[in-house]
Amino acid sequence: MKVLVIGGGGREHAICWRIAQDHGDVQLYCAPGNPGIREVAERVDIAADDIPRLLKWSKENRIHFAVVGPEVPLAKGLVDRFQQEEIFCFGANKKAAQLEASKVFAKELMRSYHIPTSHFESFRDYKKASKYLETVGTPIVIKADGLAAGKGVCVAQTKKEAQFFLDQVMEKGTFGDAGKAVVIEEALWGDEASFLVVTDGEYVIPLAGAQDHKRVFDRDEGPNTGGMGAFSPTPKLTAEIQEEVLTRIVYPTLGALRAEGITYRGVLYVGLMLTVKGPKVLEFNVRFGDPETQAILPRLQGNFLEMMEAASKGELSRVEVSWDPRAAACVVLASKGYPGHFEKGKEISGIDKAAKMPYVSVFHAGTAQKDDKLVTAGGRVLGVTALGEDIRTAVGRAYQAVEKIKFEGMHYRKDIGREVL
Ligand code: AMP
Ligand code: GLY
Repeated sequence: MKVLVIGGGGREHAICWRIAQDHGDVQLYCAPGNPGIREVAERVDIAADDIPRLLKWSKENRIHFAVVGPEVPLAKGLVDRFQQEEIFCFGANKKAAQLEASKVFAKELMRSYHIPTSHFESFRDYKKASKYLETVGTPIVIKADGLAAGKGVCVAQTKKEAQFFLDQVMEKGTFGDAGKAVVIEEALWGDEASFLVVTDGEYVIPLAGAQDHKRVFDRDEGPNTGGMGAFSPTPKLTAEIQEEVLTRIVYPTLGALRAEGITYRGVLYVGLMLTVKGPKVLEFNVRFGDPETQAILPRLQGNFLEMMEAASKGELSRVEVSWDPRAAACVVLASKGYPGHFEKGKEISGIDKAAKMPYVSVFHAGTAQKDDKLVTAGGRVLGVTALGEDIRTAVGRAYQAVEKIKFEGMHYRKDIGREVL
């Protein structure tokens, strides 16, 4: 069997690694991949959102099944195109991907179908949005409608800050077309958690709970990032809360989409705020989380590929998965300056030593091969992941492995998982 994984970050490395571990017989390809992925899959030099070339290559190479990592190709309709050519693909189709690609769509769907989320208004007109901001209290949350690589959200503490962000989004065009509309919503309080499920549109398999660390510095200080680390399981997502999220959020959302004529197949990532009034949706993503996936997949025992295939064919009810009771933790090593401007091309050393340690896997996120050297090539460079009997052991092992790795300007959070220890 020939499988193509689309993407080239830490999430895709974890996906390829899991498939390769489970299935020595699968011929695995990754476009565009990265130097770490090359150890488990053959790299294909095509960008993750170049749908025509990906499709042409997949047909020529008789790919049986494709797995899409990032949101951009999903929002551009990759799955729809592949399926027209009868290549099964794991991921949301274009209409379903609006759940992430348009915050206005997601919020209006939730409002129409009474799915718990914060109060909001949406605007296409800058003046109306600006006027509305005058009437609300602070803190207040402003979100660009479209995809903005995790930067399109501002939790404004003051009106001035809110107006400034609104200006950037709607007037200055900082996020391009993604800022043509905005959602202005009530700020929620509570603990955040990520709940991911795999679904074929009706049947659902919940993945192990995970928690991400979004702020760049320890104690949740500094700006938001794509995620500086993660651990799984999280004690915050108790069995009771998971049940509540399934019955009040996941099933109603899939039902709402069906009522709108949309079948959701793939992974649905529910970003939650656990408020005193119960779990509420902060955001939906239509893909695996990054770095949550690096902490979830080491715990998944068997049937990962089968689960994705069955979901894409509407046959998920025939698959069962089980989880390693141990915990996993992932520490992201980032470039100096990330999530702002950062330099690339810094030589990385020590990965081999770290990866040889028992229970440790080092997932590449932003790396490149330059001559015979491995260098940094992104803001998030590596995800150092370890398994352990409990979160404390997993985190301890991950940090021991981190100590072996060096590159100029490397920084990382030192408190992954600390709030639950
Ligand atoms: P999002 O991309 O919508 O998940 O937003 C990114 C981050 O902004 C979230 O992980 C939260 O930390 C924060 N955030 C988003 N919406 C809200 C809200 N309504 N109340 C408080 N914080 C929020
Ligand atoms: N770690 C957050 C995300 O994948 O969006």
